[in-house]
Amino acid sequence: MKEKIEQLLKQVEEFAPRTAAEVEEFRVRILGRKGVLNDIMEEFKAVAPESKRELGQSINLLKNRAQERVNELKEAMEHTSGRPAAAIDDTTRPGTTEPVGSRHPISLVRNEICGIFERLGFVIADGPEIEDDRHVFSALNFPPEHPARDMQDTFFIEKNPDILLRTHTSSIQVRVMETQKPPIRVICPGRVFRNEAISYRAHCIFHQIEGLYIDENVSFADMKQALLYFVHEFYGADREIRLRPSYFPFTEPSAEMDISCNLCGGKGCPVCKHTGWLEIMGCGMVDPNVLEACGIDSEKYSGFAFGMGVERTAMLKYGVRDLRLYFENDVRFLRQFESVV
Ligand code: DAH
Repeated sequence: MKEKIEQLLKQVEEFAPRTAAEVEEFRVRILGRKGVLNDIMEEFKAVAPESKRELGQSINLLKNRAQERVNELKEAMEHTSGRPAAAIDDTTRPGTTEPVGSRHPISLVRNEICGIFERLGFVIADGPEIEDDRHVFSALNFPPEHPARDMQDTFFIEKNPDILLRTHTSSIQVRVMETQKPPIRVICPGRVFRNEAISYRAHCIFHQIEGLYIDENVSFADMKQALLYFVHEFYGADREIRLRPSYFPFTEPSAEMDISCNLCGGKGCPVCKHTGWLEIMGCGMVDPNVLEACGIDSEKYSGFAFGMGVERTAMLKYGVRDLRLYFENDVRFLRQFESVV
């Protein structure tokens, strides 16, 4: 019996569990109602009186040590969230690899577009998402009550209609022109907000990139060349562009730029609505009224501006047909962009 107790004591000291469940199993086996200690107590009843004292002491020691050990181990498990201390001791084991995330496709496309213009000497400019009427509308030549303001469904702040969520990144143009002197060459990515019903082609929050170039003698031809360079860099050297007359209050003349549809090679398909062309951005020569409203001499300086939607650009680039996928952040969708840097 003495040997049995000693052996058990050794087991208690050497016990190295991996999980909290193993500790509990151990506790039941040793200290439980039908456990080993109880068997020993039964045997103890038959022990000769002269041995009782010594054996009784060792049984008590075993019992106390077992209880202490269980408490210690349980506490240690809680601190390491169940991870066994023993497992970390093996430093030769390969580590667990953490999954690496990927950039969101909207960020990828934004970075790529900005990078192309940065190579042309444009610098990034930023502005607030919560704007005032001046920066979003009036300085951009939208007179009060002008129907052009209805072109965009604006989220106004209820208590103060002068404060609103910007509906386009053109507001950053105004901020830059107010604070910098020409020559100005900026590219302005940002989030914009419009009160629109959410569908496969529209969302109430989306992203735009605005470009602005102001200097002496900037011409429409300069704009066309810069945008052609962008299209060749971003979409491919085989793409053609065309400029269609359009209207924006802040540019004169204004144009809409299309690129040739590469899905049908210009023959016409559902994606290009059978025209052979895809609309990618608005652009034009900055209206002299806008330059003057921002304190720039319109006799001396001229410039061009352009603006494009990032979601739309990304849809064309990756062949994504539903814009909502960019907002749902389903990892099955996002994982497909892991290899793109
Ligand atoms: N702000 C326009 C929009 O949200 C896009 C745009 C068009 C920007 C023409 C420009 C521009 O700078 O010149 O639809």
